[in-house]
Amino acid sequence: MVNLNKSLTKRLSKEQLDVLVRSIEEKNEIPIRVVYTQEYWDKIAMDNDYKLANRELSALKSIIKKLAIQFNGKKINIIHLGVGNGVEIPIIIDAFSEKNIVNYSIVDVNPATLAITEKRIAEKFPNQKVRKFLQDIETYGINNICEETKEDGAEINIIFLIANGVLFSNDKLVTEIYRSLNEGDYFFLTLELYQNGKDKEIIKSYLIPSVLDLLANGIKLIGYDPNYKEFTAEINKDENLLKVYYSPTADRSKKFLVLHSYKPTLEKLNKRMESLNFKNIFIEEYQEIHTCAALYNK
Ligand SMILES: C[S@@+](CC[C@H](N)C(=O)[O-])C[C@H]1O[C@@H](n2cnc3c(N)ncnc32)[C@H](O)[C@@H]1O
Repeated sequence: MVNLNKSLTKRLSKEQLDVLVRSIEEKNEIPIRVVYTQEYWDKIAMDNDYKLANRELSALKSIIKKLAIQFNGKKINIIHLGVGNGVEIPIIIDAFSEKNIVNYSIVDVNPATLAITEKRIAEKFPNQKVRKFLQDIETYGINNICEETKEDGAEINIIFLIANGVLFSNDKLVTEIYRSLNEGDYFFLTLELYQNGKDKEIIKSYLIPSVLDLLANGIKLIGYDPNYKEFTAEINKDENLLKVYYSPTADRSKKFLVLHSYKPTLEKLNKRMESLNFKNIFIEEYQEIHTCAALYNK
C-alpha cells in the first residue's frame, strides 16, 4: 500500500495519481511527470549552479546557425517537447526567424509552465503563431501533436528535445518520436553525454539544492519529509543512465528511484539511434562540456 499525502496529491489528476501509485507499487519509482511544478522548475532554471542547462544551452547556441542553414529559409513548424519555461525559445526563433516558423508548438504536462511560456513568447515575438499542447507525452505519445501542427502549418515538422535527458531515457517515447516523423520531418536533440573521469562533475548538477527541492516535491507525495542527505546519485554505465535515489534515514531498507537521465557516450548514443532506425544528418560533440547536438530524420 502506498502511503499518499492526500493534501499534496490533490494537485494531481486522477490519471497522474494512478501512474504514481502503479509506479511505486511495481518498481519503487517516482515518475518524473508528477514531480514538476512551475515554482520548483523556475527555481532550478534560475540557479547558476544548474550547469547542466548551461551546457545544453551553450551547445544549442553553437549549433543553431548550422541548423537554420540546413533549412535554408524554408517554412517549418517546430514541436518543442517538454518545453518547460522555454529559455531556449528566443535562440531558436531568432535563428529561424518568425516568418519561417509557421507553427511553434509548445508541449508540456504542466499547465502553469505552458501558460507562462506562451505568454513569454507572445511578449517577445508577437507575430509568432503558437500552438499549445498540454499532454503527458509518455502516456499519450506525440502523434496527434505532430499531425495537428501540420494541419494549419508548414509541410516540415522539426521535433525539438533540448536539455531533456530524463524524457530521452524513455525508450518508448524515443520510438514514438521516430514513428511520428513523416518524410521531410526532422528530430533535433541536445544531450549531455557521459565522459570518462567526469562522473563527479556530471552528478553534481543533480544534487544541488534546487534540484533536490524538485525531487523532494515528488517524494513528499508518498508521505515522506525528505532532507538533502537522504538523496544519492550514481551513473550506471551498463544502462547509460544517471540515477538519483531517495532512501529515508529512518528506514534504509526503503529506496526509491526519483530520477533517471540518459547519459551515453557519443558512441552509445549513435548505436541507440541507429538501432531505432534514425538517420543521422549531423552530430556535433562539444568535448569540454561533454554535450552534443544532433539532427536526425527517417
Ligand atoms: C528539464 S525540464 C525543461 C527543460 C526545458 N528545456 C527548460 O530549460 O525549461 C523538463 C520538462 O519536461 C516536462 N515533462 C516531464 N515529463 C513529461 C511528460 N511525460 N509529458 C510532457 N512533458 C513532460 C516537465 O513538466 C518539464 O517542464
